[in-house]
Amino acid sequence: MKWWQKMIAYELYPKSFNDTTNSGTGDLQGIIDKLDYLKALNIGAIWLTPVCRSPMVDNGYDIADYCDIDPSYGTMNDMKTLMAEAKKRGIRIVIDLVFNHTSEQNPWFLESASSRDNDKSDWYIWRDAREDGTPPTNWRGIFGGSAWTWNDTRQQYYLHTFAKQQPDLNWANPEVRQALYDAANFWIDLGAGGFRIDAITYIKKPDVFKDGTPDAPDGMVGIHDMIANTEGILDYLHEFKRAVRDGHDIFTVGEANGVSAEELPDWVGDNGVFDMLFEFSHINVEFKSVENWMTPDDWTLPDLKRALTQSQKNTKDNGWYPIFFENHDRPRAINHFYKEGANRLLAGKAIGLILYTLRGTPFLYQGEELGMVNVAWDDIADYNDISSIGQYKQAIETGYSHEEAMAAVHRFSRDSARTPMQWDTTVNAGFTTGQPWLPVNDDYETYNVESELKDPDSMLNWFIKLGQIRQEYDILIKGDYQELWPDDEAIYAYTRQYDDHQATILVNFSGETLDYDPSIITEANCIISNVNNSTKGMLQPYEAVFYLD
Ligand code: GLC
Repeated sequence: MKWWQKMIAYELYPKSFNDTTNSGTGDLQGIIDKLDYLKALNIGAIWLTPVCRSPMVDNGYDIADYCDIDPSYGTMNDMKTLMAEAKKRGIRIVIDLVFNHTSEQNPWFLESASSRDNDKSDWYIWRDAREDGTPPTNWRGIFGGSAWTWNDTRQQYYLHTFAKQQPDLNWANPEVRQALYDAANFWIDLGAGGFRIDAITYIKKPDVFKDGTPDAPDGMVGIHDMIANTEGILDYLHEFKRAVRDGHDIFTVGEANGVSAEELPDWVGDNGVFDMLFEFSHINVEFKSVENWMTPDDWTLPDLKRALTQSQKNTKDNGWYPIFFENHDRPRAINHFYKEGANRLLAGKAIGLILYTLRGTPFLYQGEELGMVNVAWDDIADYNDISSIGQYKQAIETGYSHEEAMAAVHRFSRDSARTPMQWDTTVNAGFTTGQPWLPVNDDYETYNVESELKDPDSMLNWFIKLGQIRQEYDILIKGDYQELWPDDEAIYAYTRQYDDHQATILVNFSGETLDYDPSIITEANCIISNVNNSTKGMLQPYEAVFYLD
C-alpha cells in the first residue's frame, strides 16, 4: 500500500487558519507555527487551498502567477520553510492546481486580451458576438450570470465557467497545456507531496458551442450541463499524468463534479488518470438533478448511505477513494447531515467516526475537528463568498423574497466553512489581533482548540483518538466494506473485513433509542463510542460505535 492510502489528509484554508502579521488574513508562517497541532491529529498531508499570487476574487482560485506566493501569505521562502518543517514531522504539502482557468490579472490573459493576433491570442476561449451583439451561447456561469464577458479591445467575448474574473484556459492549445505542466513540475521540484486538481472536469470544451435548453426564467442553462466531462477530456488528462504524475512519489486527487460512478474506472486506478477523485454524490444528497440552492430536494438517510456505499463499491478493486464530509465549498457537516436540534457533539463525533472508518483516505477539513458549524448572517452584504452573492442575486431576480434567498444562503453558503479557525477564547478566537477578513463564529468561546484540548470528551480529543485508532487498526485501511441494513431510515451500519477480523461500525442518526440484532457482534469488543456505556443490541440517541472482533 502507498503512503497516501494509509494517511489522514487535512484540508487547510490558509486565509482563515492563523494570522501572524495582524493583517486579518492567515499566512504561511501561521501554518508553520501550528504544525505540531496537526501532527497531534496524525495528519500525513496538508492540502493547501491556493496560495499562489492572486487578486483573491475567489480567494485564490483566480491565479495570477502559478509559480509565486501571494504576498498576503508570505514568500516563497516561507513556503520552503513550511515544506521543510512539515517534512520533519512526516507531513507532506499538497498543492491545489487551478488549471481550468486563471485570473483575469494573469499576464497570460492580459496578453491574450490585448489583441486578436498576439502570441497568446488563442490561450483563452474567445468568440465573436452573435449578430445582435449578445453572447455566443446562453450558458450561465457557475457563480451566476452569463458565462461570457465582453472584451472591448478584442471586440469579442471570452468564456468563464466561474466568475468573469476567472477566464477559462484553452486546453486545445498544446502550448497552454505545456505551460500548466511546467507549473506543476515547478511545485514537484520544490517538494510538493501531491496535487489536488481543481474543477478538472471542465477543461475540455465541446467542439461546437450550442445553446442549451433554458433551465430557469433567465433563459440560460447552467454551463456544467454543457461542458462537464466532454468527450476527449481523458486524452488531455493522460498527457497530464505522463508529464506530471508519472515517476514521482506523489498523489493526485481530482475534483470531479460530473463524473458518474460508472465512469470511475476511466479516472482512477490502473487505467485512470488520477490516484483519487473527489466525487460528490453523497455531498449532493439534496441536489438530485441540478445544484440550485433554491430548489434542494428532500433526502433520507438511505439516500446518503446509497451514495457512500456506491462509491465504496466502485473503488473496491480499482482506484482509491478520498473520504470527505466537508470542504471549503460546502456547509459544515453537522448542519448538512443532521436535522436542526440534533446533539451537536454526538453528531460531529459520528461523522468523524464514519470519516475515519470507511475505506479510503480521510480528508479532514479545517475546523471539522472542533465541531465547527454554519453561520447565519442577516444580510447578503455580510457575506464575502462570490458564489453566495451570485446565488442570492439570481434568486431575487427569479422572484424569491429576501427571506427565502437568505435562508438558502444560510443553508449553503461557502462562508460557513471559511470563518476563522478557533484557537482559544481570546478576541477573534486567537486567529488574528487585527480585523478578521470574515467574522469569527460567535460560538468560539466554547468551541476552540485550547478549551477542547482540556476537555477529555471534546470533539478535538475524539478526532485525536480516532487518528490513533486509524493508525493502530490495519483493518480500517485494508478491510473490505459491506453495508448492513441499507433500507434502515435511522441507522448507518457497515462492516470492514480483513484477515479473519471484522470491524462493525454502527451510527444512529436519530434522537431515538434503537434496537438491533446483537448477534452481528457477539464476540466483539467496543473500541470507541461517542456515548458512555455503549450496549450491544441497542443504540442510544446519536450514538456512533466501533466494535472489533
Ligand atoms: C472549485 C473550488 C472552488 C472554486 C472553483 C473555481 O470548485 O473548490 O472553491 O471557487 O473551483 O476555481
